[in-house]
Amino acid sequence: MIKIENIEKTYFSKKIEFTLFVRNVKKKGKEIEKSKPTASSISETKVQYNPLFKTEKKKTYALRGINLKIREGEIFGLLGPNGAGKTTLTKIISTLIIPDKGNIFVNGYNVVSKVKQARASIGLVTGGERSLYWKLTPLENLSFFGRMYYLSKKESLERAKELIEIFGLEEKKNDLVQNLSTGQKMKVAFARALMHDPPVLLLDEYNRGLDPQASKNLRDFIKKVLQKEQNKTILLCTHDMTVADNLSDRVGLIFQGKIVTLDTPEKLKSSLKFRTKLTFVTDKPIAPLVEKYEGVSILTTKNVEREYTTILTLKNGLSSIEIMDNIREKDCFIKNFEVNHASLEDVFLSYTGRKLEEIENGEED
Ligand SMILES: Nc1ncnc2c1ncn2[C@@H]1O[C@H](COP(=O)(O)OP(=O)(O)OP(=O)(O)O)[C@@H](O)[C@H]1O
Ligand SMILES: [Mg+2]
Repeated sequence: MIKIENIEKTYFSKKIEFTLFVRNVKKKGKEIEKSKPTASSISETKVQYNPLFKTEKKKTYALRGINLKIREGEIFGLLGPNGAGKTTLTKIISTLIIPDKGNIFVNGYNVVSKVKQARASIGLVTGGERSLYWKLTPLENLSFFGRMYYLSKKESLERAKELIEIFGLEEKKNDLVQNLSTGQKMKVAFARALMHDPPVLLLDEYNRGLDPQASKNLRDFIKKVLQKEQNKTILLCTHDMTVADNLSDRVGLIFQGKIVTLDTPEKLKSSLKFRTKLTFVTDKPIAPLVEKYEGVSILTTKNVEREYTTILTLKNGLSSIEIMDNIREKDCFIKNFEVNHASLEDVFLSYTGRKLEEIENGEED
């Protein structure tokens, strides 16, 4: 069980540059305050010039009041774009950094005041692969970390061998980690987190670098073995809506350090005004033909060289076949037709006005 109460975290960073290399030196001596809410997170920058240096002090509000209760045996998906605050929250839960405000309890242990007990309850998997010693083999890494978690030498070696088999790493168990592929390193990192058989697992972008088959195998393993058989409590942080949708019992959408909505994937999707999105490619514009239907909304229309692409949404219960027949009857040729069901991406869009992937550079439109 993980209980998160009103967590806030602000990062402070400082950058110093010689003014010699700064183009706009007119502002020398002045202090300028800029407030800049970026698309993914909210930050403020304070710039100060003196005859030699330009100093930039930046304050990033990474988490702005997170409240969450993850039940025992639940897979909870935290879904959000780059910079939304997922890793920061994972780091706080796993005792790597301290929050500015609020409390977190893992299996009843406060992560700030009962660090040792909290750590013993947690297995952490991060997408960065930095949790391994690259000059050791997978077997040596796992045995070493087992010893760190107070397993005996024999227990540690046995557990390491068992996990190597589960993750299909037998062929690579005696190679140096530095010579493994990204996906193989990821598997060793996952195995490492399971060495002490923790009741709580934190998975931060756990499937980075895995091929589709390995990703599917790991998904099945998480669901069937870790959740169903071993009743582990799992927090899954990702910006991949398919992963969140397929694995999570409940999903929280995180944006600019806040959880904007939270429910089962099904309920989140059915809370949208529409269930289905239709894409038509036709030889005539179809908007005038379909607009008369109550419950049809046109999302976008595009016209390229007499090819009209129209994306529309249907209210729950409305038949796409009926719409299609109506278009055909009006002597309109349908070149292509596609049906897509509402996704968590659509839910995210409806709450934030943004897509999950568009926010790479962190700038507002
Ligand atoms: N050590 C740090 N110093 C300063 N700012 C930081 C630091 N770590 C993270 N941030 C900022 O805090 C915000 C949240 O970052 P975080 O890594 O938690 O996001 P995330 O949701 O994990 O993103 P991603 O999907 O890209 O991994 C971002 O704006 C990031 O730039
Ligand atoms: Mg992250």
